[in-house]
Amino acid sequence: MQGFFMLKNKKILLGVSGSIAAYKSAVLVRLLKKEGADVKIIMTPSSKQFIAPLTLSTLSKNEVLSELKDNDSWANHVMLGRWADVMLIAPLTCNTLSKMANGQCDNLLTAVYLSATCPVVIAPAMDEDMWHHPTTKLNLQKVESFGNVIIPVSHGELASGLIGMGRMAEPETIIQWLGNYFSVRNQLSGKRVLITAGPTYEKIDPVRFIGNYSSGKMGIALATEFQKRGAEVTLVCGPVSQAIPAGIKLINVVSAAEMLDACIKEFENTDIAVMSAAVADYTVKDPKAEKIKKNDELLQLELSKTTDILKKLGDLKKEHQLLVGFALETNNEQENAINKLKAKNADFIVLNSMNDSGAGFSHDTNKITIFDKNQKEYHFETKNKNEVAVDIINTILNTTHV
Ligand code: CTP
Repeated sequence: MQGFFMLKNKKILLGVSGSIAAYKSAVLVRLLKKEGADVKIIMTPSSKQFIAPLTLSTLSKNEVLSELKDNDSWANHVMLGRWADVMLIAPLTCNTLSKMANGQCDNLLTAVYLSATCPVVIAPAMDEDMWHHPTTKLNLQKVESFGNVIIPVSHGELASGLIGMGRMAEPETIIQWLGNYFSVRNQLSGKRVLITAGPTYEKIDPVRFIGNYSSGKMGIALATEFQKRGAEVTLVCGPVSQAIPAGIKLINVVSAAEMLDACIKEFENTDIAVMSAAVADYTVKDPKAEKIKKNDELLQLELSKTTDILKKLGDLKKEHQLLVGFALETNNEQENAINKLKAKNADFIVLNSMNDSGAGFSHDTNKITIFDKNQKEYHFETKNKNEVAVDIINTILNTTHV
């Protein structure tokens, strides 16, 4: 990161809630201003016990807002969220987090949050035991599923005197994080990305199907990361239980045939397509309208091959389009993956081997090797699927002209 006016002309709406870490807001505002940002501040009533509004208004050179009734009209909450390039809530207490997760709106900060159309970034601050409470985890997952972005807490000395997780990220870290966020957000703006994720279910009868163990995590992580880079993302997703961040165009499908139809419709307007779904290779030739009874000792199902969606898109692919496939292998991994890359006319194939621990279905982690059509290969360590998504997208960006 170049470090010079990283946030020039960026409009930052800083929300401060009532944590001891609010004392760091003065440094945060000073650094935001130093990096060229225009800063407006909203404080919750309790945060004023930790830092004086006068300090923050002096440093931001803007009036600090706090009370709902300070504002003469409802429209003001809405306009603040519309004014901002980003709403940064730092520090974010458990209490404000809980209100955000549940749509409560009893002060100006939460009212603005609920009406904000800009991206929202949060920097939580709390004591370790609160940080580890299941409710906190659930609330964080919830706001993340709304598309809010979390700046991770750090480990260190806490207000209680204990040492542990829960410290708000340092103001310098938050600034670096925001600088990176804005530079990354422009990388794929205007680009349209199509992703498939999850399993498909092939109907046997009204109560049974053939499916697989895919959780959809890898595809959803990719969709989320592409969205962070500014792309317009369409996710064609089989049956999964994962939350999909707001702002991603979601097309729910069940069977391989439905996934194929959706992909063909979307592909024409796509710049980059990543096929990470575990599509059924075979479907039931003649699904029954009634439940199959267990009358016979032997039951035979006749299966017919599904259309390979990746291959179909490879056939349709135009010069400007990039196509990425996955290969899940148990043996002859490299050879099989390269064969798939060629046979399906993909530009990249991402290999995950079932022989690597922590890779493949249902895990939160994955270990990948990427092959491109110029016979180059890129190896990566086992990482969580969000980091794997970053590696895949960086490889695409660093080696092509998208
Ligand atoms: N794929 C697809 N449509 C299918 C089957 C697979 O789009 N009907 C895609 C997957 O999303 C993945 C790639 O093809 O990107 C490879 O999938 P994989 O299951 O590893 O291989 P298959 O081509 O199905 O071959 P095999 O099962 O014989 O290894």
